Amino acid sequence: KFSIVIAGGGSTYTPEIILMLLDNLDRLPLRSIKLYDNDEERQNHVAKACEILIKEKDPTIQYVATTDPEVAYTDVDFVLAHIRVGKLEMRSLDEKIPLKYGVVGQETCGPGGMAYGLRSIPGVLENIEYMEKYSPNAWMLNYSNPASIVAEACRRFKPNSRVINICDMPIGMEHTIARILGFKSRKEMCIRYYGLNHFGWWTSIKDKDGKEYIQDLIAHQLKYGNCLADDDASYYTDSSWFDTAKKVKDIIAIDPTMCPNSYFQYYLFGDDMVAHTDPNYTRADQVVDTREKRVFGECARIEKVGTAKDTTLQIGIHAEFIVDLATALAFNTHERMLLIVPNNGAISNFEKDAMVEIPCIVGKDGYEPLTVGEIPHFQKGLMEQQVNCEKLVVDAYEQHSYLKMLQALTLNKCVPNANVARKILDDFIEANKAYWPEL
Ligand code: G6P
Ligand code: MN
Repeated sequence: KFSIVIAGGGSTYTPEIILMLLDNLDRLPLRSIKLYDNDEERQNHVAKACEILIKEKDPTIQYVATTDPEVAYTDVDFVLAHIRVGKLEMRSLDEKIPLKYGVVGQETCGPGGMAYGLRSIPGVLENIEYMEKYSPNAWMLNYSNPASIVAEACRRFKPNSRVINICDMPIGMEHTIARILGFKSRKEMCIRYYGLNHFGWWTSIKDKDGKEYIQDLIAHQLKYGNCLADDDASYYTDSSWFDTAKKVKDIIAIDPTMCPNSYFQYYLFGDDMVAHTDPNYTRADQVVDTREKRVFGECARIEKVGTAKDTTLQIGIHAEFIVDLATALAFNTHERMLLIVPNNGAISNFEKDAMVEIPCIVGKDGYEPLTVGEIPHFQKGLMEQQVNCEKLVVDAYEQHSYLKMLQALTLNKCVPNANVARKILDDFIEANKAYWPEL
């Protein structure tokens, strides 16, 4: 049986990830679940409810919520890392500062993602160091954002660490693709995909017999985006994900040869995104008013009544990749999964030392990437611009360099010119005083 620590215990995602772990005990048997956060007060919103969820499912599983890294990281097999340095308050500024200048305000795309990257790097490195100190044989399944920049920092500063960088977004999208194409589950599909994190394309969707569906998918998306029909909002309980699902129509019209990650809406249609965003009420505000209220409210209720038997919390199905990945590492299943890994020639006409998101085979010794081959000019051009932004952010962190950060922002596709880049950067420096290295 395995022992897990969730780093970033105070996340609104934690209770639903725990429900997902508890729902998969037959695949991944657990002896211990720990929550770790450096913010005790925040973690306390969910800690007691998580204890009740676990006790009621399997009282033999040990449980602790702690702010002590030694307690958290001692005797663990898997670290599930989803830390958010600066929390939602800083996410809000990542979104609002660029919007002040008419630029996309988003937590992982554009300037906001870069600001977040510079905050995240030291936090992630610190957690890797705890793991290596207290449980050197553990694996970290790292889905801390912004995943691309964080992954590049891992490659550069912790090249030999047992860290696997992964994102849930492609899995969410594959649920949607399966639904559009009429598969019962995404696991009935064998896919090919390449790109950077939040920046890639599906190039093939095959069924078990090898029949190709990518053209059917593209034909559908050209008409309806990621919706089943024109106004099919039912699947998207969240209005901003519904808007994204519709926007996919415009994205795919730019290149109807492959199925794009919906995050391209920010890079290719930044003007439309800005026009539809209230600069004073952004996604961070929505998340606080909806998900955070719902999850923390329900956790408080569970704590009060002392039972979770009627809970409205739902199993985080988008997080099932965590169990898939841990199971593959623990039991050598050779499952095929999309991971963020050093390119090393997998995409033959792309930089070797770029962190790319591609299918890999996962077993007990880690992952082996599959080859992609040559990619077309449009994709390559976009990826080169983006990957160099990401590398410049890590340069800025490493060298405490204002200039590198200015170059990163200037190069980004969401930013129109160097004047705007400089203004955004100067505001970010002011806002991130408590987090950024001094540039
Ligand atoms: C997807 C992405 C994550 C991102 C999240 C934002 O799941 O893969 O990287 O953090 O969306 O969702 P939110 O509801 O917080 O805007
Ligand atoms: Mn992601």
